[in-house]
Formats: sequence, structure tokens, C-alpha cells
Amino acid sequence: MKVALITGVSRETGLGYETARQLSALGYYVIITARDLFKAKQLAGPANLQAEQLDVTDPSSISALYRIIESDYERLDILINNAGAYYDRGQLVLQAEPQFIHQAFDTNLLGAWRMVQTFTPLLSRSDAPRVVNVSSGAGSFRDPQFGITTQPGATPVYSMTKAALNALTIHMAAELQSTPIKVNAVCPGFVATYEGTAAHGARPVSDGARGIVWAATLGADGPSGGFFRDGAPVEW
Ligand SMILES: NC(=O)c1ccc[n+]([C@@H]2O[C@H](COP(=O)([O-])OP(=O)(O)OC[C@H]3O[C@@H](n4cnc5c(N)ncnc54)[C@H](OP(=O)(O)O)[C@@H]3O)[C@@H](O)[C@H]2O)c1
Repeated sequence: MKVALITGVSRETGLGYETARQLSALGYYVIITARDLFKAKQLAGPANLQAEQLDVTDPSSISALYRIIESDYERLDILINNAGAYYDRGQLVLQAEPQFIHQAFDTNLLGAWRMVQTFTPLLSRSDAPRVVNVSSGAGSFRDPQFGITTQPGATPVYSMTKAALNALTIHMAAELQSTPIKVNAVCPGFVATYEGTAAHGARPVSDGARGIVWAATLGADGPSGGFFRDGAPVEW
């Protein structure tokens, strides 16, 4: 059975949990992780998933998880870097707190970076390793609804962390080009993971998760180093 690891799974209505359920339904063995192990355990039980503790900003937490997966499974087939936060709507870039900026990049960019650096040895033992960086249209330059040039000033810190995550995806894919590891960024679209957002046009979480699952289960002829929504390329 193939083993998938998902970061940032602490909420029943979050993209991480829905992605876990969809992968599980496809026959993958899914490990969900959260900063608060109790929250992950509450979600894991009913869905027959494995729950582990993980804070992507804490190298010792990442190392501990690595040791568990290496000892239990000796490899990793899918890594989904879903943990993300610091959606700073209404913040002025000239007044953003350095500590806030640091935490946002530490989680949204460096978290995914640390995870791939740490887990590459285990991914390398899979016959079809896939990494998905859950990005956002807010990290795209030209996204019509949320893009950096189309909506300048909106969610400035968050959008820069996701633009950087996209750049990281390109660099990682290039470095891993000669290996079977495929790395892609996926925008789930505007998804109703929080109450009240559906009224503002957010779509069902299951729709957003489907594009993440698509990138996580790409065949050998699938792309690497791309940016996708619903399985179709989107502009950087
Ligand atoms: N919803 C949308 O419309 C949308 C659109 C584009 C992109 N996205 C992206 O999709 C991903 C999932 O978002 P969501 O909407 O499903 O919201 P969510 O449920 O809040 O998911 C974010 C998860 O990241 C976790 N997290 C935060 N800091 C962490 C850390 N240091 N280590 C480990 N986990 C951490 C949160 O856990 P805690 O409970 O511990 O804080 C939470 O479980 C995010 O990367 C987000 O940027 C969402």
C-alpha cells in the first residue's frame, strides 16, 4: 500500500482532511499531522487514518516524524505540504509586523522547504514519489481574482509567501529532474473551509481537494515544476 503524508490537518472542514479522505478512498495509507496531536487524532479515528504530531516550523518535530515513518514504512510515496496560515487581509505592507512576516514565511515557505529536504531520502525509495505544495491564486502574479498584479495590496504577506512557495516548487523540480520525484504547486481555488465563505463564492472543499489529489497521484508521464488548479495549468 502506498503511504501519503499530509501537513496541517487539524480541522474537519480543512483541505488537508478532505484530501486525506479522498486519498484513503483511493486505497492510500494516509498519515495526517497537526501541531496539536489531539486534533489530528480526533479526525483520524473515524476515517481510519494515522495521526502524528508535526509543527513544520520546528525541525525537531519534523525529525521525530521522519524517524516514525522511516521505522514504520521505510519509504514515503506522497508528501502534501498543506500547512499554511497568516492570511493577512487588510494589512498594509508598510506596517506589517516583522514578527508576523517572519512567522508567515517560516510556516508557508520554510515549512514546505524543510519537509522536502528532510523527507527526500524516504521519497527516493518510492517508485512514484510525488510532492504537492498547496499554494494559492494569491501567490500568482496574474490570477484575475487574487493575483499580485491584479489585486495589489490584498493579503500582502500571505501572497508573497505563496509566490515564494511557487518559486521553491520550480527550483525543487529542476533539482529533482533526473529522479522520479515530481514536485508541483496546486491552487485549490477559493474553497469553503471556513464558515461564511461559501456566501462569498467559495466552492466545496471536495472540489478544491480533488486538484491536490490529482497532483499527488500523477502518472510517470505527468508534469513536474508546474502550477495547477483542477488539473489544469494556471499562470504563475
Ligand atoms: N481555503 C481556501 O480558499 C484556500 C485557497 C488557496 C489556498 N489555500 C491553502 O490551503 C491550505 C489549507 O488551508 P485551509 O483553507 O484548509 O485552512 P486550515 O484548515 O486553517 O488549514 C491550515 C492548516 O495549517 C496548519 N498549520 C498552521 N501553522 C502550522 C505549523 N507551523 N505546522 C503545522 N501545521 C500548521 C493549521 O493548524 P492549526 O490548527 O495548528 O493552526 C491548519 O490545520 C493552506 O496552505 C492555505 O493557504 C486555501
